[in-house]
Amino acid sequence: MKSQGFFISFEGIDGSGKSTQTKILKESLEALGYDVILTREPGGSPGAEEIRALVLQGDPDRWSAQTEILLFTAARRDHLERTIQPALDAGKVVICDRFADSTRMYQGLSRGDLRDAVDQLHALMIGIEPDLTVLIDMDPAEGLSRALSRNTVEERFEDFGESLQVAMRKGFLALAEEFDDRFVVIDGARQIDQVAADVLAQTRARLDAR
Ligand code: ADP
Ligand code: TYD
Repeated sequence: MKSQGFFISFEGIDGSGKSTQTKILKESLEALGYDVILTREPGGSPGAEEIRALVLQGDPDRWSAQTEILLFTAARRDHLERTIQPALDAGKVVICDRFADSTRMYQGLSRGDLRDAVDQLHALMIGIEPDLTVLIDMDPAEGLSRALSRNTVEERFEDFGESLQVAMRKGFLALAEEFDDRFVVIDGARQIDQVAADVLAQTRARLDAR
């Protein structure tokens, strides 16, 4: 059954401005009368938030890429069951800061070619893709310096360094071509309000067209 809601994910390298832009988009859509929830991955439900702490803290080599695929997918399944699907069924717009494309990149690409394993587990346990994916594209050096300036304990992936960010940027742009029906690519290297205006225009076009 096709749900009544509309599912938007935001993707991009660390520090590209996703959480800044998701918050602004939520407010803008609410001002237009939409019922919106903003959520994030890993996390977005109590169980998935517990898994978040496991995967984002500690040494970069704490988990293998294969183990991470299982942990991120377990978190996503809980998030989907308890937060995303109920909101879509209630006709809401769901904005999610990262979703399965992050696993395709960070686990599927970063430490060997595990994309097939990610896709197979996704088909088995998740099975849905966003209606719209906003890719905030950004120079990796700038993204990393923005991300590290936040100074949080959740720096496991930032600690893989700039070479990972370079590979992720390239991978996300390739993914946008692979799934060009749902991706829009936004230039993140501009003022926050310029980026936000672009994000809102693209989102409204897709919402109006559905
Ligand atoms: P992400 O969620 O993609 O990691 P954030 O939204 O947390 O990125 O942004 C990372 C940092 O960069 C934050 O300190 C934020 O205030 C800042 N920032 C976000 N967008 C811009 C922008 N367009 N120009 C300059 N700084 C920005
Ligand atoms: P996030 O909190 O969005 O970090 P940032 O604001 O720095 O972009 O995500 C934390 C990290 O988790 C990020 O480095 C990417 C990683 N991640 C994966 O490796 N796989 C996944 O499936 C997801 C959702 C995130």
